[in-house]
Amino acid sequence: MRDFGVISAQLLDWYDRHARSLPWRVPQGQADPYRVWLSEVMLQQTTVAAVKAYFERFTTLWPTVHDLAAAPDAQVMAEWAGLGYYARARNLLACARAVAAMGGFPDTRDGLAALPGIGPYTSAAIAAIAFGRAETVVDGNVERVVSRLFAVETPLPASKPELVRLATLLTPDRRPGDFAQAMMDLGATICTPRSPACGICPIIDECAARMQGIAADLPRKLPKKAKPQRVGTVWIGFGQDSILVETRPEKGLLGGTLAFPSTGWDGSDLPPPAAGDWQELGLVRHIFTHFALDLTVKTAQLTANPERGTLLPLREFSPSALPGLMRKAFALVRPETA
Ligand code: ADE
Repeated sequence: MRDFGVISAQLLDWYDRHARSLPWRVPQGQADPYRVWLSEVMLQQTTVAAVKAYFERFTTLWPTVHDLAAAPDAQVMAEWAGLGYYARARNLLACARAVAAMGGFPDTRDGLAALPGIGPYTSAAIAAIAFGRAETVVDGNVERVVSRLFAVETPLPASKPELVRLATLLTPDRRPGDFAQAMMDLGATICTPRSPACGICPIIDECAARMQGIAADLPRKLPKKAKPQRVGTVWIGFGQDSILVETRPEKGLLGGTLAFPSTGWDGSDLPPPAAGDWQELGLVRHIFTHFALDLTVKTAQLTANPERGTLLPLREFSPSALPGLMRKAFALVRPETA
């Protein structure tokens, strides 16, 4: 039987010396649940490097959950622009408002998991990091570390329950939040997907995959299905000192974000939103979770009032409030803004 206490102790010892310094990190026991929650929601599907500046900006604008709860929806969406997965921003506000109404964050995993936008991963992370609960946090980094440590050869996603079981056995009662972040840091900096730096790994002596010479081959993964390709058109129209925009419907792709009018992204056609001599500028690409999208970008000076969208005065328009896809489209019209 492996001694799991030794592994977690070695990892915590390594973390004390080598933890990445990140704006949301403080010593275990001193965490502000609001900052932990905000960082973990931002870090869902987004890299640490991309999140840092957004985290600083949000916590400067809204230092407490009550401040965020009172913020206008459009401002929060505009500040989120560029981070992607916009359902997160809509849930963020819904969650902030629920927590403000409750008077604070619940301090258990189940209580947290009942809030909007908080799934199994995020509820465990907040419970462990903010409240010191011995919950197990399993993200992609942790899956990789655990599959190597125990030489789990079953491919993902079938191996997931086994990886969760093993990660749970490893989780210590003491400093579970630091342990979770130590696992993440090990996965991000040493136990990396390709060419892991086993020579400097603090738990090399415990690693079954290393012993078998297969560390870099794990975790095995079933081949991903190719994503379907879809096409559409986006229209960037200009009025007199104004630009034609719309807010996308709450439900659906890029829901609630500021956008230029476009066709449906499922192949459904739509006429241009206004009359004008539409010129084709090029193509922008975006990979969504379930498909890849190529949008043809067209631009025109409008010759009549629009049938869809609103004309926003150019002095009130900021490309930084657009999601990445729309920002790329706008950059074809005004390359200097890219
Ligand atoms: N990814 C998700 N949560 C994280 C955290 N707390 N530290 C580093 N990377 C993370």
